[in-house]
Amino acid sequence: MQYVIKGGSPLVGDVVIGGAKNAALGILAAAIMSDEDVVIENLPDVRDINVLLEAIEGIGAAVCRLDPHTVRINGSAINTIRVNDDYIKRIRASYYLLGALLGKYRRAEVSLPGGCNIGSRPIDQHLKGFRGLGARAEVDHGMVVASADHLSGGHIYLDVVSVGATINIMLAAALADGNTILENAAKEPHIVDVANMLNSMGANIKGAGTDIIRIRGVQRLHGTVYSIIPDQIEAGTFMFAAAVTRGDVTVKNVIPKHLEAISAKLIEMGCEVVEFDDAVRVVCKSRLRHTHVKTLPYPGFPTDMQPQISVALSVAEGTSMVTESIFENRFKYVDELARMGADIKVEGNVAVINGVSRLTGADVSAPDLRAGAALVLAGLGAEGYTVVDETKYILRGYERFDEKLRSLGADIEQAEDEKDVRRLKLEAV
Ligand code: UD1
Repeated sequence: MQYVIKGGSPLVGDVVIGGAKNAALGILAAAIMSDEDVVIENLPDVRDINVLLEAIEGIGAAVCRLDPHTVRINGSAINTIRVNDDYIKRIRASYYLLGALLGKYRRAEVSLPGGCNIGSRPIDQHLKGFRGLGARAEVDHGMVVASADHLSGGHIYLDVVSVGATINIMLAAALADGNTILENAAKEPHIVDVANMLNSMGANIKGAGTDIIRIRGVQRLHGTVYSIIPDQIEAGTFMFAAAVTRGDVTVKNVIPKHLEAISAKLIEMGCEVVEFDDAVRVVCKSRLRHTHVKTLPYPGFPTDMQPQISVALSVAEGTSMVTESIFENRFKYVDELARMGADIKVEGNVAVINGVSRLTGADVSAPDLRAGAALVLAGLGAEGYTVVDETKYILRGYERFDEKLRSLGADIEQAEDEKDVRRLKLEAV
């Protein structure tokens, strides 16, 4: 599927942000750790989530979608600790089932994770964490196998700040015997959300959101009803959509504190950002100004917003430098952006962006989830038509992306094939 975008209209209006995908992935894995009903609300209806739900169902848990954004999970009938579905290889967060199953059943076998190709993405810190809890953890014939005769609390120091390893270790340690201290933990809002959710099931986790997390293992986890936090990256993407199109957008149902790094950059770039209790308004009236940015673990500027800010800087006045310090392969969209007239040179993990006065529409292809969304923003701000191919990546993490953009006045349509693309272009002439 492709998006056909006619650029040039400023985005104006309100948009409601959904639940955080990356929190939801950890929370769904946590849900199977109880034998009682767990109800998850504010679930984003996106592909990665639906794939993980299929995997959870595949191991025997009961999954009942009460509505598109609410699911009831019961893990009492899980009949295997082996997760080896072709689907699951495509999503990164399948590995959260390792921590969840290891904690609950003391053994887990999960296919090596897939996900976006944005770097080498090793899992050594996850394995180190499981070993720190007394488990054996190895990669064997494409499967990660973790098992423990006795899962016990431990003192674990992460060598790199890893969101995935932090969540995985919290999951397993929640049901280990004794106390775990996890140092150099990631501090992202979704870490706190997964910890809060586990605590609502009876876990005893303290310090999530700081770099030392203390987990006192409990015997069992009970049922809960839990609502997921809003998606920081979806919100940030719409905030940058406002900037790129010189629009006026209010993102609603957000936690402004989680967006501070994003808001700060938009202000530096000349936008007006107004914070409300649970909304943020971004107004951009004139040409954006250049700035420098480096991606960092939270509370730094998120790597998942790097392509979006780079698109905005590609039409900003002056020269900007974007340093990617989390994933080494996250500039793959730059060649696509160059087709639209952007002037960007990548040297190692730094992109030097000379702002041009405007981008022009072209046929481009989404290389991964966030870069795909960024190319859509580029199309919205460009002159003429842009066709973004490989939108399947975008659907992994954005719910009704085109529909939400249309509600803000964007001219964006879905096309099934080339014929459709030609028809949409002709209709608009
Ligand atoms: C998560 C997010 C992803 C986001 C990233 C950083 C999910 C499903 N995905 O990915 O959208 O871009 O956080 O905010 O939540 N590393 C190791 N060894 C490990 C694990 C990680 O060296 O065992 C390195 C990675 O290569 C990377 C850095 O640590 O350089 C951060 O990765 P990590 O925080 O683990 O990212 P993910 O959890 O995969």
